[in-house]
Amino acid sequence: MCGIVGYIGNRDAKDILLQGLEKLEYRGYDSAGIFVIDENKRSYLFKEQGRIAALRKVVDSTAAAASGIGHTRWATHGVPSIENAHPHQSANGRFTLVHNGVIENYQELKQTYLANTHLTSDTDTEIIVQLIAHLVEKNTVSTLEAFKETAALLRGSYALALIDKEQPEIIYAAKNKSPLLVGKGDGFNVICSDAMAMIQETNQFIELTDGEIVTLSRDTITIENQLNEVIEREAYTAEINLNDLDKGTYPYYMAKEMDEQPAVIRKIIQAYQNDEGVFELDKTILAKLIASDRIYIVACGTSYNAGWVGKQLLEKLTHIPTEVHLSSEFGHNMPLLTKKPFFIFLSQSGETADSRQVLVKVNEMGHPSLTLTNVAGSTLSREAEFTLLLHAGPEIAVASTKAYTAQIAVLAILAEVAGKETGLVVQDSIGHDLGIVASGMESILSEKHQIEQMAADYLSISRNAFYIGRGVDYYVAMEASLKLKEVSYVQTEGFAAGELKHGTIALIEEGTPVIAVITDEGIAGHTRGNVQEVQARGANTMVFSMEGLEQLGDQFILPKVNPLLTPLVSVVPTQLLAYYTSLQRGNDVDKPRNLAKSVTVE
Ligand code: M6R
Repeated sequence: MCGIVGYIGNRDAKDILLQGLEKLEYRGYDSAGIFVIDENKRSYLFKEQGRIAALRKVVDSTAAAASGIGHTRWATHGVPSIENAHPHQSANGRFTLVHNGVIENYQELKQTYLANTHLTSDTDTEIIVQLIAHLVEKNTVSTLEAFKETAALLRGSYALALIDKEQPEIIYAAKNKSPLLVGKGDGFNVICSDAMAMIQETNQFIELTDGEIVTLSRDTITIENQLNEVIEREAYTAEINLNDLDKGTYPYYMAKEMDEQPAVIRKIIQAYQNDEGVFELDKTILAKLIASDRIYIVACGTSYNAGWVGKQLLEKLTHIPTEVHLSSEFGHNMPLLTKKPFFIFLSQSGETADSRQVLVKVNEMGHPSLTLTNVAGSTLSREAEFTLLLHAGPEIAVASTKAYTAQIAVLAILAEVAGKETGLVVQDSIGHDLGIVASGMESILSEKHQIEQMAADYLSISRNAFYIGRGVDYYVAMEASLKLKEVSYVQTEGFAAGELKHGTIALIEEGTPVIAVITDEGIAGHTRGNVQEVQARGANTMVFSMEGLEQLGDQFILPKVNPLLTPLVSVVPTQLLAYYTSLQRGNDVDKPRNLAKSVTVE
């Protein structure tokens, strides 16, 4: 989704901004732009539709200037086009602005303040920059005052960066709900919506909280709150290894990230075990979790699918009833909560706006909350009472793979440790069993060429497909279908195997691919029956079964693992199937159309 970068210092800003935007490419975008200005007020604006590579081609290599702002846009108001791309400028050309987020009252602001202003784009962003110019002109206030006044008038989410041509030595920034960081350098300062964008410049970042306004020069950073009080805040060190951002010898990030899964599982075991090899978690988290009468897991997309596996783990190992909810639904249509709820937010990025709006409400209600995230210092991590990190390393491909398995592994550890606290779990086994999972994943990944062939045989030209399973295999079917549809664009449903015959079986026709996941002995026979039913109607079936449950003709045998952890291995061939189908169809597997990695609008 949209990304912001800004630089003010003594080097060539355009190169730094373009590099920063390239680092943000993984978030998903459809156009991009940069604005740079030198101390003599000579300025340059470049915008282009499509990729940063296209923007680079239109950037004038002689445009040397030591401060500037840049943006990648994921269209919300107005189609992807050069006119709608950021940065946007005021009609008088004095102010230039980039914005992430959505301004809910932009029509109202337009009518009230800008009825006579000629607008050149369809965006909500242009209203902000025109409004700043309007307030400066009309009320003869300073740029900072106009910026503050404008921010106070905005309803919705925003991260903003503004340059006034009359003050090329300053960048103004503000934030509400959308992420924004200030990076501290020696003789320069930066802003960015994600530390990854500027990690090549600095690893010292200052978090901003909602409503704050920042004035940035090359040597100073002034943060003010809504009461105009100056806030002193220490920088933190962002622990991002530049090598982790590199594809290395892999053709795509998704391939690299799928392959990293065994190592991630081992890293998680290490991260949560003490010197005696026993899992140890913050006692306060455990106390609040086991004192609750219901756990509510709230998440979106792949994280939501991981939540269902988490429900199974938590209920089996702690006996605490657990519900799983979509963030985008939960916040606006909250079910009747129990007396002592405990909330778990699952979010790879820690920035998902749908989940954050629920967390804000949960905090207002005073309920305990725990975020499981891959990004330390992310919004959901900062705002929840507790955080458990996924330790998966940066996930760059839009399609989440290693974060899904990392979420399940951390949930398994949490469930076991909480189960021990309640007395239900008497013997540790998850640590050992996760080790077996890691080896199992490795053996599946070593057979990826088999899956590549299956993609060619079953899915490369198919219009639609189904994944079916029961129990925990159904949860994997949900994730498998999301993965296949998002990268291959094959319309895919993940279905409870037994439910097909109640309507959806009408969609099965000659050659429809149906992939069954079978890992649970107790219900394997039933799922096999459902495979027969679709085969009888012409479906092209594939069965992924667990060792011990396999039958002659099954397409892929999964290594045997603890029954509670089977999703960690059964999901891997489905990720590979999605990956190869996408490549065989000629798609950009790392940047599927219309999608963004970090979904920072509701
Ligand atoms: O960062 P989050 O885990 O909160 O993101 C949630 C979803 O947007 C994300 O999982 C999305 O569904 C992925 N593209 C799935 O591959």
